[in-house]
Amino acid sequence: MKFSILAPVVFFLFISWYQIKAGPIDEGRNIFALKCMLCHRIERDSTGPALANVEKRYSIDWIIKFVKSPGKIIRSGDTSAEALFIKFNRTVMPDHTELSDDDIRNIIAYIQFQTKQIASIGAIPMENNDPPVEGKKPGNFHHTGFIISFIIVISTLILVLLFAVQVKRLERKMHGKE
Ligand code: HEC
Repeated sequence: MKFSILAPVVFFLFISWYQIKAGPIDEGRNIFALKCMLCHRIERDSTGPALANVEKRYSIDWIIKFVKSPGKIIRSGDTSAEALFIKFNRTVMPDHTELSDDDIRNIIAYIQFQTKQIASIGAIPMENNDPPVEGKKPGNFHHTGFIISFIIVISTLILVLLFAVQVKRLERKMHGKE
């Protein structure tokens, strides 16, 4: 009995993982929204520098190293990183050692994608360009795919649970009659 409830749950968790795991751009978008957007915009400076064309300014390897451990690069005397640090009011960008090289490549893919969008229509589609306001999260609109799959997964889980409860109830009824 336990297994028959667990199987669909595992199945739908897998589906949701697969959905979230979608292409590199979507993956990059999710990580960017979670971990970078607080300080970075693509098209303009924010707490940190604008990230459009960042892959043209530095090598991918440099970006990967920098994102994982900006302090280390700055302390190592990398002059461009140091100048940047001073320009941005000596705000320390936090380490992101939890991100893999591929995660950071995905973020770069997303940044490239958005940069192209900006170049072609002069604006980021559906991205709120206003400065962040308390309680209002900009950029939340453009990972609709993620939100939709999340809602689908949650409602399916609820349905599965309701179904399991019904089955239990039926079982109890049958036992009661025996
Ligand atoms: C708490 C704010 C903050 C967060 C969060 C943050 N950054 Fe930064 N970032 C900065 C600041 C400030 C700088 C400027 C350099 C410095 O002061 O360390 C910077 C610099 C950079 C640079 C160098 C850009 C250039 O033009 O030279 C890259 C690349 C970068 N960040 C990527 C990222 C990525 C990717 C993430 C998310 C995984 C991220 N940052 C999260 C604040 C932040």
